[in-house]
Amino acid sequence: MSITRRGFIESAVVASLATSLNAADSNAQDTPKSDSRPAKRPILISAHNGFNYLDDAFAYLKSGGDTLDSAIRVVKGPENDPNDTSVGLGGLPNEEGVVELDACCMHGPTRRAGSVGAVRNIKNVSMVAQAVMQHTGHVMLVGEGAERFAVAVGFPRENLLTDRSRKIWLLWKENHSNEDWWGPGIADPNWKPPRTSPEAKPQADLWQDRILQLHARAAALGIEPEFRMAAVRRVLFPPTGTIHCSALNDKGEISGVTTTSGLAFKLPGRCGDSPIIGAGCYTDQDIGSAGATGSGEENIKVAGAHTIVENMRRGMSPHEAGIDALKRIVRNYNGDMTRLKFVDMTYYILRKDGAYAGVSLWQGYTKDTPHKIAVHDGTRRAEVTTPLFQGYSEEFPRVPDVPPDLAKDSVYLK
Ligand code: GLY
Repeated sequence: MSITRRGFIESAVVASLATSLNAADSNAQDTPKSDSRPAKRPILISAHNGFNYLDDAFAYLKSGGDTLDSAIRVVKGPENDPNDTSVGLGGLPNEEGVVELDACCMHGPTRRAGSVGAVRNIKNVSMVAQAVMQHTGHVMLVGEGAERFAVAVGFPRENLLTDRSRKIWLLWKENHSNEDWWGPGIADPNWKPPRTSPEAKPQADLWQDRILQLHARAAALGIEPEFRMAAVRRVLFPPTGTIHCSALNDKGEISGVTTTSGLAFKLPGRCGDSPIIGAGCYTDQDIGSAGATGSGEENIKVAGAHTIVENMRRGMSPHEAGIDALKRIVRNYNGDMTRLKFVDMTYYILRKDGAYAGVSLWQGYTKDTPHKIAVHDGTRRAEVTTPLFQGYSEEFPRVPDVPPDLAKDSVYLK
């Protein structure tokens, strides 16, 4: 989420960079599960939304399947899942209500790469990135050219905007209606005059009002009761969901892929880190592979995946390499925790010997939704990532407690 855009400039620095880095050091002493396991090959690691697809991909990898094909088997699952609002079909759209997808991949054994950005109407953009790698002399295609290329090599065009994502987008659109004509007008029987100045009511009450109004509009738009609160959160705090997967076979061949619908309600044409080779994904056959989910703009500025692989080349463990990349994000804000509270980043790291790590800036979004890395090395499991900072990233501005009668039926929306 962009914090500068929201004019978030004041506030004292509540913790110094030194304090921040001490937090990292003390975390490092916790035994991260992912670093403590013996390295095994073959192995697949992915973002947590790949968990359900690891069994099939692992069987394929173990039977001699190509490492990139194996990784794509994992990420294709969420790309095809209309209920995953962060990737592929059903991904949340841009500000004009159009789904635009980004992806990139690297194939270690042949040292090749492919990437696509801002692609419309094609759901398996991870495979389109692979096709760019296999069928062109280029590395990256974007926009209309990428879509036309995808159709030329056989991908079907389809509508990626599911009914649920369209309704969440409509809710987002109506939420901006002080400035435009979206949402019911003054002739609507339920119309209420715009809220009075913020001074008229305590801030927490205004938020409570806003949530209640959005929740009522979500009902009016026909969003199912169990998804209404999740839809409200999506509108107030647009997410940057994504999936990354890296695969290593028993011969030591390694590949990686990352795919996403990017930041919800973004400006048309916005590309995050996921299609950027070296940011959202980087694989070096000599060293290992890394990928990212989270705040794309922050990750581009530290070339996260490349930084991590280069750190491992210089002898850092996967865990140390990832923590160092996170510290670079912290450095970009001079350790200002009032800003870093609103940044979210998770790295998935796999070294060529099978050692791996999942690290994140924060423990998760909430106590109930910790960041996790999904792993399959013969045993499929999900492990919590090792955070640089103890605590949870915050949404901005902070939402007061959701009224219990609205919270009780809410489900977590991917
Ligand atoms: N990490 C996904 C994005 O920011 O687009």
